Amino acid sequence: MLNQELAQTLVLIKPDALKNSLTGYVLSQLSEFHSGLRFAGTKVVHVPEMLAGEHYAEHRGKVFFPSLVEYIRGKLHYPDAPQKQRVIAIVYQGKDAVCRLRDLVGPTNPHKAREEKPGSIRSLGTVVPLFNEAGYQVGDRWDNLIHASATDEEAEREIKLWFRPNDIPPYMRIYPARQSDRHYYFLDDRLLTEYEPGSICLFAPGDEGWTSDLDALKAILQGAPSPVTLQSVAAKYLTNREGEED
Ligand code: RTP
Ligand code: MG
Repeated sequence: MLNQELAQTLVLIKPDALKNSLTGYVLSQLSEFHSGLRFAGTKVVHVPEMLAGEHYAEHRGKVFFPSLVEYIRGKLHYPDAPQKQRVIAIVYQGKDAVCRLRDLVGPTNPHKAREEKPGSIRSLGTVVPLFNEAGYQVGDRWDNLIHASATDEEAEREIKLWFRPNDIPPYMRIYPARQSDRHYYFLDDRLLTEYEPGSICLFAPGDEGWTSDLDALKAILQGAPSPVTLQSVAAKYLTNREGEED
């Protein structure tokens, strides 16, 4: 059972907030004075497609999914400036972190946020119509400036998706981590235990990983079922690297 005093949640300051210079405003709204929460980890991430897809896995197949992935990757707000395509990922920690942040960010749809919670962060967002090739509107994209985990379970999945254990100071970690006892490499959606040209080293012996990730890799290697996909373990090790996919 989670000690709510130490609860954590994941916030992403999305590309539309960065483009509109709202980062300082958002951080101020979420400061300890307003939220009662503290930073436990933070990083700037150029978001690869795999990480975006895993983060929004529950929306795969929906009409707005491709546009949502492009949006979180910064491709829509900075189409010609890869050096600006990034999000700021933050782990906040403190009592009832998930509920407190969801309250401050407001409803998902910016129009609803303006009606029901004026003053919330998402009330400053935009609704963008999406059209098919024939020119008919098929849905909307909600550019809502910020992501915040919806439940404690979602927070755990998302924090482990975006952060490595050693991105978070040990006293602030709430999910178990351990050292890997072997090499793991990733190549073309495959898990390897020996280096092949072009593969990316996920773990060398002694590297720290989330216990659930290391258990998942072990299961995947043995062909056993794993609650965590290989892509969701690998994604955080593929970010901010030289030669990263664009
Ligand atoms: P978030 O994950 O970003 O904090 O948002 P949420 O829990 O309030 O909503 P969720 O259902 O998880 O949706 C994730 C993001 O997908 C976009 N969305 N668009 N057009 C639509 O019907 C729709 N539904 C969701 C939003 O950008 C939302 O933040
Ligand atoms: Mg959500």
